[in-house]
Amino acid sequence: MAETSGTRQYAEKRERVSVVFVCLGNICRSPLAEGFFQDLVERTGLSDRIEIDSAGTSNYHIGELPDRRAREAARRRGVELVSRARQLKRADLDRFDYVIVMDSENRRDVEQLGGGKSTARIQRLLDYADAYDVHDVPDPYYGGPEGFELVCDMVEHACARLLQHIREENGW
Ligand code: 4NP
Repeated sequence: MAETSGTRQYAEKRERVSVVFVCLGNICRSPLAEGFFQDLVERTGLSDRIEIDSAGTSNYHIGELPDRRAREAARRRGVELVSRARQLKRADLDRFDYVIVMDSENRRDVEQLGGGKSTARIQRLLDYADAYDVHDVPDPYYGGPEGFELVCDMVEHACARLLQHIREENGW
């Protein structure tokens, strides 16, 4: 099948896929995406088919729980965030079928990590969304609680679209 703009095109539909969400610190946006996507996948009965993880491009917060504000915002929506921050590794780019970054800076950093040789498909989460004009999930770390609410809204919406995309692409 044809290669298009550096994304891997699968000749075969897959029975199982893996997804890693990536942001800078792995304590705000990508744990929210991991938590909301996991919750949606469980409610849809697809847990056996999708492996889900998250990671950061930086080493700033390795080992930490998600930011308290992110955990509180998720908990208000019925989702507990329990991940521990880790840094994305070169090997992750070969291991995961979908590398879903939060913003354009993350994408540049991940592409750099891959040295231009990685075959991983790297997409911004909001590329899957149709409810927002922007394609970067804003970094809420230095702002107030309203920033976390906006991130939750964006991420919940886009995760539903991403799941739809994965199901269609793999014929589920
Ligand atoms: P995240 O947010 O990338 O969504 O996890 C940030 C967390 C920490 C920092 C920046 C962004 N920091 O500079 O420590």
